[in-house]
Amino acid sequence: MSAAGSGSEPYGAIANGAVAVTGDRIIWVGPEAELPSDLEGQAGRILDAEGGWVTPGLIDCHTHLVFGGDRANEFEMRLQGTTYEEIARGGGGILSTVEATRGASDEVLYETASARLATLIAHGLTTVEIKSGYGLDVETELRMLRVAKRLGDEHPVTVSKTLLAAHALPPDFAADRTAYIDLVCSETIPAAAAEGIADAIDAFCEGIAFTPEECERVFTVGADHGLPSRLHADQLSDLGGAALAARMGARSADHLEYASEAGARAMAEAGTVAVLLPGAFYFLGEEQAPPVAAFREHGVPMAVATDLNPGSSPIASPLIAMNMACVLFGLTPEEALTGMTRTAAAVLGFADERGVLASGAHADLAVWNVGHPAELSYWIGGNPCLAVVQNGVVR
Ligand code: NIG
Ligand code: FE
Repeated sequence: MSAAGSGSEPYGAIANGAVAVTGDRIIWVGPEAELPSDLEGQAGRILDAEGGWVTPGLIDCHTHLVFGGDRANEFEMRLQGTTYEEIARGGGGILSTVEATRGASDEVLYETASARLATLIAHGLTTVEIKSGYGLDVETELRMLRVAKRLGDEHPVTVSKTLLAAHALPPDFAADRTAYIDLVCSETIPAAAAEGIADAIDAFCEGIAFTPEECERVFTVGADHGLPSRLHADQLSDLGGAALAARMGARSADHLEYASEAGARAMAEAGTVAVLLPGAFYFLGEEQAPPVAAFREHGVPMAVATDLNPGSSPIASPLIAMNMACVLFGLTPEEALTGMTRTAAAVLGFADERGVLASGAHADLAVWNVGHPAELSYWIGGNPCLAVVQNGVVR
């Protein structure tokens, strides 16, 4: 096999490499010819990748995997010319999924999300982030996070859970925006934190969602409860979301189609990762791509994620998201792979722990039937994943 992720060659490649694992950890990575003989002798099980490639397991750091219903009807409307924003302002969009999610039982939410998660795992995924945000009332937000937790308990995947109560203004608060933010700050965040079912907090900063000031309030209360922040920023317009995320020390700013040069600079200084979501750009037929050249120039790390959700990115494939990041945003296949592994791990607080093939890291690996790692971003459809190892267990 060859391994991507640790050597000094492009892709960190090691030709004819070997990875040794004990328990849930990698204990050695290098050329097979240099594998210490005691390690080889002790091996309880040898998995021969038969000339394929081994990479860190893929990490999807931005999904809305748990939701009720679908929005195929809105897809039809958009194809007739109605825009995503018009649908949202007319009470559809996120709010139509809120209605379907509130009306779905825990079991239905779990089963439908399970099917989508199984597809991701079959395509080499070992870690996934799952957001709430389709409940908006306290109980449904908590229900979504509990379903996300159960998905991690019952599937061979590490789940990171993000509270996105500030995703849209629920209709019952249409006349009083402040009252909704008050509810999020005084009840939803404390309840999710007390139950230990949120690992981070997110907000949607946009004309159809929340203002920078409202997002800032949510982040401040999240930080008081020990929750790192993320931001849906500058997706449809430039409200200064990138700079806001940087100022708040957010782990990431996501989407960023309309982010400014100054925003990119601020993110670089703050160490805020740019999470690129080409699936939403593609599916909404957007025309302005995120400022990838500025991110490169200023040294902003770029992650790539599916944004899997029923409204703007119904894409249950990390590999297709990587392909789109290359074709639509001009990433190199190497940047796309790093964006779905090492950089995605950093967004979730797993820097050096996951998303890398390195001694001491979790043994999360994907084995691929490809002759070169660029193929992971190249094929569209099909599935070159031969096997997944998650926390040291072959799945
Ligand atoms: O990341 N941008 C906001 N939230 C989601 C879309 C949610 C929806 O349309 O249901 C996103 O694209
Ligand atoms: Fe999103």
